[in-house]
Amino acid sequence: MARNTYKQDERLDEPFNFKHLLRAGVYIKKYAVKMIFALVISALGGAIGLLAPMLNQKALDDAIPNSNMRLLIILGIALAGTVVISVILTTIRSRIMIKVSQGIIYDIRKDIFAHLQKLSFQYYDDRPHGKILIRVVNYVNSVSDMLSNGLINVILEIFNLIFIVIFMFAVDVQLSLVVLCGVPVLAVFMLWIKNKQRKAWQAVSNKNSNLNAYLQENIVGARITQIFAREEYNAKVFEELSGDCRKTWMTAVRYNNLVWPGIDTISVIVRAAIFVFGMVVFSTAEGPAKTVGTIVAISSYASRFWQPIMNLGNIFNTFINNIAYLERIFQTLDEPVTVDDAENAGIMPEIKGNVEFKNVDFSYEEGKPVLKNVSFEVKPGQSVALVGPTGAGKSTIVSLISRFYNVNSGTVLIDGEDISKVTLHSLRSQMGIMLQDSFIFSGTIEDNIRYGKLDATEEEIRNAAKIVCADSFISAMEDGYKSEVRERGTTLSQGQKQLISFARTLISDPKILVLDEATSSIDVQTERALQTGLNNMMKGRTTFIIAHRLSTIKNCDIIMYIDDGGIVEAGTHEELLAKHGHYYHLYTAQMDEKGA
Ligand SMILES: Nc1ncnc2c1ncn2[C@@H]1O[C@H](COP(=O)(O)OP(=O)(O)OP(=O)(O)O)[C@@H](O)[C@H]1O
Ligand SMILES: [Mg+2]
Repeated sequence: MARNTYKQDERLDEPFNFKHLLRAGVYIKKYAVKMIFALVISALGGAIGLLAPMLNQKALDDAIPNSNMRLLIILGIALAGTVVISVILTTIRSRIMIKVSQGIIYDIRKDIFAHLQKLSFQYYDDRPHGKILIRVVNYVNSVSDMLSNGLINVILEIFNLIFIVIFMFAVDVQLSLVVLCGVPVLAVFMLWIKNKQRKAWQAVSNKNSNLNAYLQENIVGARITQIFAREEYNAKVFEELSGDCRKTWMTAVRYNNLVWPGIDTISVIVRAAIFVFGMVVFSTAEGPAKTVGTIVAISSYASRFWQPIMNLGNIFNTFINNIAYLERIFQTLDEPVTVDDAENAGIMPEIKGNVEFKNVDFSYEEGKPVLKNVSFEVKPGQSVALVGPTGAGKSTIVSLISRFYNVNSGTVLIDGEDISKVTLHSLRSQMGIMLQDSFIFSGTIEDNIRYGKLDATEEEIRNAAKIVCADSFISAMEDGYKSEVRERGTTLSQGQKQLISFARTLISDPKILVLDEATSSIDVQTERALQTGLNNMMKGRTTFIIAHRLSTIKNCDIIMYIDDGGIVEAGTHEELLAKHGHYYHLYTAQMDEKGA
C-alpha cells in the first residue's frame, strides 16, 4: 500500500456505484421491519397532509360562497385534524428512525473497530491516523443517515411526488398539465447544479480529511513542535490546509445558495402560468372556466410539487458522497489482516521457553532487508541480551518472536512449534513484552496494571508493583493506586511509566519475557533495586533484554551483538570480552565513559 499523508487527497470521485449500497444491506437487514413500519407511517402522514389543498378548495368554492357555516366548521376541523395527525405520525417516525440510525452506526463502528484492532503494525505505519479516525467517526455517521433516513426518504419522496400528481390531476387535468410543462426546465437546471454541487462537496470532504490528519499529527507531536519552535511554520501549513477547507466550502455553499432561487424562479413562473391559464386562456364567454378554489388548490400543489423533486436531488447528492464514504469503510473492513491465524491454526501449548530462529529473512519494505538469514536457539529459562548499534534490528528480532510481522522466509519456532501455525491469541497471551515506549492508557494506575491480567485482585496488583519498585511512588500519590492518569500517561515521568509497564507485564505471568529498553529511563539506583525484582521475574522464564546500558545485561546467559542484519557475535559476557571484538569495544567504551 502506498503511504498516504496529509498532503494527498484521498480519491473520492468514484462514480455512483450501487455495489457498495447493496453490500450495506447487511447492516440494514436487521432493521428492515422497523424501517418498513416507519415508511408506512410516513406515507400515511404525507397522504393526509395532501388533503389540505382539497379542503381549502371546498371551503373557497362551496362553503364560503354559500355561507354554509356548518360545512366551513367541518372543513376547519378536518384541516386541523390533518395537521395534528401529520405531526403525530412524523414524531413516531423520527423516534423509530433515530433508533435505527444509531443502531446502524453502532454496528458498523463495532465491525470497523474490531477489524482495526486486528490489522498489523504495518497498516498503522502506512497512513496518517487522522484519516483512520475520520472514517470511524465522521464517515460512519453520515453513511448511517443515508442507510436509514436516506433510503426511506427516497421511497417517500417518490410516493409523495406520485400522490401530489394524482391529487393535482384529481382537482383539474388541464391546469395540472400546465404545471408539468415546467418539469423539463427544472430537470435541466437540476442536472447542471447537482453535478457542480457533488464535485464541490467531494472537494470539501477531501480537504477536511487532510486537515484532520495534520491536526491529529500535531496534537500528538505538540511537544516537539514547541521544542523546535516550529509553531510558526506549522501554523502556516495549518492555515494553508484550513484555507483549502474554507475555499472548497465556500464554493460548495455558493452552489447550494443558487439552488433555491433557481427553483423558486421556475416555481413562480409556473404558478403565474396557472393563473394566466386558469383565468384567461381556458376562459369561455361566460367568464373564467376555473373557479378560484381550483386555481388556489392547483397553485398550492404546484408549489409542493417541486419540493420532492428537489429533495430527491439532494438525497441523490448525499448518496453519491456517502457511497464514496461507504467505499472507504468497506475498504477498511476489507483491509487484509496480513498477520492472522493460519487456516486450521493450532493452539500454542503452554510455553516452556525454547526459542529458535531458523534462517530468518525479514524486511519492513520490499527491497530493504532488515534481517538476513538469522539463526539462533535459546533454551528454556535462559536470558538473552541483544546489543548493537541503533537501527541494527534488535527490536525487529523481538517483535518477530510475538509475530507482530510475518517473516519473509525462514521460521520462528517456540518449543519446536512454528509460530505462524498457532493462533495469535494463544501465542501472545503467553508473552510479556515491554516495548521501547511504554504506553499508558487513560484511567487509573490500577487499571493500567490490571491490563496485564483482567481479573487481578488489588492485592496482586500491589504485589506486582512492589516487586518492580513501583509501589513507593504510587503510594506517595494522592489517590495511590486509584490516581487517574491521562492518555499516554502525560502526568507521569518516563521512568514511572516504565515501572508501571513492568508491573503490568509481570502480572500477566508471561512464559517468555521481552524487555526492549525497558529500564532506559529508570535512574541507576532504582534500577539496581529493580534488579532483584527483575531477577525474580526472569526466574524460570526465557527472557530477551535489549539494553544500551551494558551493566544491566552483563549477567545474561547469552549476549548477542546484532549489526548489519545479523548476529555478529554471541556468547557470555566473559567470552565476548575475551574475544576482543565488537562487544569488547562497546563495553570498554562505556566503562571509560563511566571512569571519565
Ligand atoms: N515500521 C517500520 N517500517 C519500516 N522500517 C522500519 C520500521 N521499524 C524499523 N524499521 C527499520 O528497520 C531497521 C531496524 O530497526 P529496529 O527498530 O529493529 O532497530 P533497533 O536495533 O531496535 O534500534 P534501536 O537501538 O535504535 O532501538 C532500521 O533500519 C529501521 O529504520
Ligand atoms: Mg529498538
